[in-house]
Amino acid sequence: MALRFEILGRFNRARAARLTLPHFTCQTPLFMPVGTQGTIKGLTTDQLEDIGCQIILGNTYHLELRPGSRLIDELGGLHKFMNWKRALLTDSGGFQMVSLLHLADITEEGVTFQSPVDGKPMLLTPEESIHIQNNIGADIIMALDDVVKTTITGPRIEEAMYRTLRWIDRCIAAHKKPDVQNLFGIVQGGLDPVLRDICVRGLVERNLPGFAIGGLAGGEDKDSFWRVVAQCTAGLPENKPRYVMGVGYPLDIVVCSALGADMYDCVYPTRTARFGTALVPEGLLKLKQNAMATDERPIDPTCSCMVCKKYTRAYLHCLVTKDAMGSQLLSYHNLSFMMRLSRDLHTSILEGRFPEFVRGFLRAQFPKGD
Ligand code: GUN
Ligand code: ZN
Repeated sequence: MALRFEILGRFNRARAARLTLPHFTCQTPLFMPVGTQGTIKGLTTDQLEDIGCQIILGNTYHLELRPGSRLIDELGGLHKFMNWKRALLTDSGGFQMVSLLHLADITEEGVTFQSPVDGKPMLLTPEESIHIQNNIGADIIMALDDVVKTTITGPRIEEAMYRTLRWIDRCIAAHKKPDVQNLFGIVQGGLDPVLRDICVRGLVERNLPGFAIGGLAGGEDKDSFWRVVAQCTAGLPENKPRYVMGVGYPLDIVVCSALGADMYDCVYPTRTARFGTALVPEGLLKLKQNAMATDERPIDPTCSCMVCKKYTRAYLHCLVTKDAMGSQLLSYHNLSFMMRLSRDLHTSILEGRFPEFVRGFLRAQFPKGD
């Protein structure tokens, strides 16, 4: 095992922990920005350090297409290649193919898809996914899982969950660097508590260094989503990190942390920035709106990020959607907001004032109590 997970404080099911990875010691709960191609769009690695980013996510599938994991390996691994000294996590690739390419076909052997480069059929097996991720060299690597949308029903959900369990053994057998890279298993099973329970127990038996809860944030209602997270965290070991994949919105991160989850990733803060929307304690601030044209305030007067210190809403209104600098500055602020949220969760749990923090957060987001 190449990590240490020390719980420093709790409030009911919520935990504040220190997660020591080969390249960085992180504090949880934590949010991981998504850097699909070895970059968080528009931000330098120095800026990511400045805002307190501890770990970023890369995608096996995208990195394998360009520049290729062999080249990354030859050039000394992804940390060196992208000049990022802190922690990295790579997702296994299956989810990206299924969500991006409608032509992907899943069989027991792996995921078959048409190469977007030359249209030739390509096969990503659990062994190949782990081999690529060993070459990329992230601190945490993810098992190849069979992902289905939570909104579908029927035997496909069960098939995908059992296949995910069979694939984890192929991933474990293929993993060549367990001393420097941590392989996380992914709980599947849709919205079915019986299937989720079988998957949780199957993965826990494999004694992996950490566990992810997958297959969520795919269009199911919040109630079902939170119920699955609550059930999975209750069944996973206390002394290992728990990662809810593809989540999410600030509210979801607060709720999932209360339910005992530790790690999150989502494209939302940077994607919404590119559409001109800033995350603020009250919810969303749309900088494209005409009212912003003459507004001399910063995006968020309570934010101490570089953008809020230096630029007005009026200036950002002028930039958004017209100049790349607009989305870069908004991404910088939005990720700063997510990093502050992670820190606030950590310290409020640690200092025994988590309920007050959650109440304040909810009051700001829902002032009318709805
Ligand atoms: N990203 C968001 N959800 C998932 C999931 O269920 N599996 C994987 N591998 N990645 C994800
Ligand atoms: Zn800011």
